Amino acid sequence: MKKAGTALLLAAGALLPGVSGHAQDATAAPCKAGKGWDLSCLRQIYAGPVSSWPRPQVPDGITPAELAPVSSIPVPAVAPRVAALGQRLFNDPRLSRSNAVACISCHHPAHGFADAKRTSLGHAGRPGQRNTPGLLGVGQLRALFWDGRAASLEVQALGPLQHADEMAMEVPALAAKLARLDNYRAQFDAAFGQSGGVTLARILGALAAYQRTLLPPATRFDAFLAGERTALDQRELLGLHLFRTKARCMTCHSGALLTDQQFHNLGLSFYGRSKYEDLGRYLVTGEAADVGKFRTPSLRGVAQSGPWMHNGLFPQMTGLLNLYNAGMLRPAPRNAEQAMDPRFPVTSPLLQRLQLTSDEIMALKSFLEVL
Ligand code: HEC
Ligand code: HEC
Repeated sequence: MKKAGTALLLAAGALLPGVSGHAQDATAAPCKAGKGWDLSCLRQIYAGPVSSWPRPQVPDGITPAELAPVSSIPVPAVAPRVAALGQRLFNDPRLSRSNAVACISCHHPAHGFADAKRTSLGHAGRPGQRNTPGLLGVGQLRALFWDGRAASLEVQALGPLQHADEMAMEVPALAAKLARLDNYRAQFDAAFGQSGGVTLARILGALAAYQRTLLPPATRFDAFLAGERTALDQRELLGLHLFRTKARCMTCHSGALLTDQQFHNLGLSFYGRSKYEDLGRYLVTGEAADVGKFRTPSLRGVAQSGPWMHNGLFPQMTGLLNLYNAGMLRPAPRNAEQAMDPRFPVTSPLLQRLQLTSDEIMALKSFLEVL
């Protein structure tokens, strides 16, 4: 695992010299003090309501949703008994062919319902292609998976259940298998309030109901948003300010879950490198413009859900932030064939070099740790 990770990072480094982007100096920034920041001035401009905070610094044409507390996420309308059944199914490895892999094997509560691995390990220890996303707030997402290929949690669960590298289950046989185990039949009837026993639709419905209840826990950031202005220390407050302004993160990470739920290309698709290549959203739409795009992930609980990005490229947050600071990767065509290729991926024009100092990068990191 470690070796593969290093190889990926080296491959990424090889692409770095091609980085471009227009630097923009945040000269008009309030509270600058020489090369650093006047922190008591920052305290003052963040003392009022959220609507009075400095406006997010984003490219023209983008209007990000304002940052909002977890409490603003609507409470899911699910029957508690169905959700409880869903939790039992989520934790039960007998949903897999080998009886060894449960949803929770990869989506563990201790890691924000991710798995702390670069890419997942499933059936018979087989490595998957992608990093396991955390599931906190997943009920709010319009399109699931890194490439958005599933439109609902009910449909989504069919993916891991039958994927050869995940649970490798023959889905048509699943309901009959569960009906023979423990008291599942009775529990399904009790949860759904009528007879009918174990059916695939009920399994998917219960798993989905449970996942809709997985809201991110309220954090010190939520306390801060709610008006408790001592909830963030100086460095975290500076991180928040940079996230909104100079670092331009709110271009894509906005709202209560800190995602615009859109697809963007950050230059991490390793196009034309067979081992690591992942075409992302293109695999769903077939549109050349979607090559290398991935859904902006939520940043709630992000400090617990590394390694980060669709391919788990970054084991360290500082490495990830350094690359954002450089404007991310902007791979150039490597030969004439690639230069003519209409599918050659184009890194998002919304990204640019940021000119953050190392202190500012540490402040951003501290802010991400309170989300
Ligand atoms: C072997 C590890 C593994 C297992 C087991 C597994 N998952 Fe996942 N899960 C992943 C990976 C990897 C992805 C991302 C795949 C992708 O984007 O193509 C994912 C994605 C998801 C997503 C989409 C999240 C998002 O942000 O879009 C949901 C929801 C989910 N899994 C739920 C489940 C459920 C429910 C089960 C059990 C039925 C399950 N998973 C079993 C590894 C796993
Ligand atoms: C152009 C849109 C865009 C901007 C601007 C942006 N991000 Fe992202 N962010 C994304 C997308 C898309 C991904 C996933 C990309 C992938 O996996 O290939 C991502 C992934 C991440 C991740 C990894 C999360 C995970 O669960 O793996 C972190 C952390 C992150 N961004 C933080 C930031 C910070 C901090 C900033 C500001 C410096 C920022 N982002 C600016 C779109 C953006």
